[in-house]
Amino acid sequence: MTTLITGATGHLGSLILKHTLERVPADRLAVSVRDPEKAESLGVEVRAGDFDGPLADTFAGVETLLLVSVDGPDEIRIGRHLNAVRAAADAGVRHIVYTSVTDADTSPLSLAAVHKATEEAIRATGITFTFLRNGMYHENYLPHGDGPIVTAAGDGRIASASRDDLALAAAVVLGTPGHENAVYELTGPRAWSFDELAAAAGTTHQPVTEAERVAGLKGFGLPDFVAELLADIEVNIGRGVLAEVRPDLEKLIGRAPVTIEDAVRGR
Ligand SMILES: NC(=O)c1ccc[n+]([C@@H]2O[C@H](COP(=O)([O-])OP(=O)(O)OC[C@H]3O[C@@H](n4cnc5c(N)ncnc54)[C@H](OP(=O)(O)O)[C@@H]3O)[C@@H](O)[C@H]2O)c1
Repeated sequence: MTTLITGATGHLGSLILKHTLERVPADRLAVSVRDPEKAESLGVEVRAGDFDGPLADTFAGVETLLLVSVDGPDEIRIGRHLNAVRAAADAGVRHIVYTSVTDADTSPLSLAAVHKATEEAIRATGITFTFLRNGMYHENYLPHGDGPIVTAAGDGRIASASRDDLALAAAVVLGTPGHENAVYELTGPRAWSFDELAAAAGTTHQPVTEAERVAGLKGFGLPDFVAELLADIEVNIGRGVLAEVRPDLEKLIGRAPVTIEDAVRGR
C-alpha cells in the first residue's frame, strides 16, 4: 500500500477514492476514517484515524498521504491538521497532498487562516507536497425548496466548482507523476452572480447585510462559528475575492469543469 486518503467517509473524500480507484490499483490504496464500520464496503484497506488522537498506526508505511481538511473552530481545526502533519512526518510519509483553499496564503477569507497554517506546517516538514487549493463547491449554493436565495454577497461573483471535479483533480494528482511541490488554484469555469443562479434555478436572490445573514443562519440552528464563517465567505464574494477563474482545474481534469448551471440541472 502506498497511498492513503483521509476523510473517505466524507463527501469529498469518498469522491476522491472513487476517482482514484479508476487510476490506482486497489491494493496500493488505503483510507483512514473515524468510524471504520462506515467504510467496510469501500473495497480498500480501512484504517482508523481521528486527527484528535494518535495517528502513528494510521499512517505507518504510507508513501503518499492525501489529507482532506477537517472542520471545527479555527484553533481546534489547526490543531487537528498539525497533529496529522506531524504524524505523517514521524511515519516517514514521502508526499503530502492537502485540500486547501484558493489563495490560502493571501486570502482575506477568515477560513483561510487554517489552510495557511497547515500549508506552512507541511512546507516546514521538508516533505514534498501538492496543495489542492479548492474553490467553493457549487453544491454549497444549490437552492433547496422554493424560497428566495438569501445571501450577504450582493452582486458579487464566484467561480465555484463542482465537488466531483475537485475530487477528480485530486485523483489525477494521485494517479499521475510530476506534482511535487505544485500549488493548484482550482476554480470553476465562470464567475457567476447569485442573481444569475436564482434565474437558473427559477427563483429570486434576496441580498441581506452580513449581520442579518449571521442571524438568519444561527436561526437555522447552525453553530455561531459556522454562521459567521458562511457569512464571511459571502461578504468576500461581494468584494470579488472568489471571482477569479483559474486554468488549473481544467488542465488537471482534461476538460472544461462543470458549470453552476449544469449543477442546478443536476448534472
Ligand atoms: N470548498 C468548499 O466549498 C468546502 C465546503 C465545506 C467544507 N470544506 C472543507 O473541505 C473538507 C471536505 O469537504 P466535504 O464536503 O467532504 O466535508 P465532509 O463531508 O463534512 O467531510 C469531512 C471529513 O472530515 C472527517 N473528519 C472530521 N473531523 C475529523 C477528525 N477529527 N479526524 C479525522 N477526520 C475527521 C469527516 O469524518 P466522518 O466521515 O467520520 O464524519 C469527514 O470524512 C471539509 O472538511 C472542510 O474542511 C470545503
